[in-house]
Amino acid sequence: MSTTAPVLTTAAIGAAAPQRKKITTAVFRRKKERGEPITMLTAYDYPTALAEDQAGVDSILVGDSLGMVVLGYQNTLPVTMDDMLHHSKAVARGAQFALLIGDMPFMSYQVSAEEALRNAGRFLQEGGMDAVKLEGGRERAEAIRAIVGAGIPVMGHLGLTPQSVNQLGGFRPQGKTAAAAKRLIEDALLLEEAGCFSLVLESVPAKLAELISKKISIPTIGIGAGAGCDGQVLVTHDLLGLFDRFTPKFVKKYANFHAEMQHAFGEYIEDVETKRFPASEHSVEMDEKEWETLQKEIDRR
Ligand code: KIV
Repeated sequence: MSTTAPVLTTAAIGAAAPQRKKITTAVFRRKKERGEPITMLTAYDYPTALAEDQAGVDSILVGDSLGMVVLGYQNTLPVTMDDMLHHSKAVARGAQFALLIGDMPFMSYQVSAEEALRNAGRFLQEGGMDAVKLEGGRERAEAIRAIVGAGIPVMGHLGLTPQSVNQLGGFRPQGKTAAAAKRLIEDALLLEEAGCFSLVLESVPAKLAELISKKISIPTIGIGAGAGCDGQVLVTHDLLGLFDRFTPKFVKKYANFHAEMQHAFGEYIEDVETKRFPASEHSVEMDEKEWETLQKEIDRR
């Protein structure tokens, strides 16, 4: 990028423009029509949501990746509705403009359409979200119709669907054979028809993601799905280098916060152990007169 002319990025506009408007599903649609990339990031807490919102991100997903990158589970299966609502509320307090999407956790929408609708409603009513996301294709159509029918926007999720990790045989790319790719295309069309306003495509061949993005009218949001999608999402802890257990190939790391945190913690420990911290500027002072009065009181006893 040239350094001579100032470039007004979305982030700069977001930080500078007080007239910024709330992003809605209609904005998602408009962006796809205009060929403008949609940006999405995950967040699980207030300060991260605040920073992402101030940076100008279009959408924040309270992903059930929470289970792995925040709660330390091996996969997303143990995440509960209570976990998701707790973190959704914190994100909603931090974000003013981004479209907020709550990720429906494992077993919150699979049992029946009625249960799916009730749990989706909780994300809006209690969690402060604007929409929900759920994983799966044709087998989820009934639940999606019920949720959309109640006026709740639904984002679909195809390809590598982490809640099915045991069925998929691991966290591995999907849609690599002609038959699997055909099934994915059919599912994408079905999710559009069921009323999804957008669709996440995770870890699928770039060519296939581009083809799906052209075939459906709703915006696709890719993660490990190439540049042909209508938008992109990353797990924020991957992007920031905060999650050191494993980084998927498709992640671009923009920082190394794990190393920075470790460094800062190390310095703090050393400062305390060597009594460099707290210094006088970190301490509360007492009025000299009050101190003398206290001393006299003590001495009198
Ligand atoms: O849970 C999550 O963060 C997600 C994204 C990877 C899309 O589903």
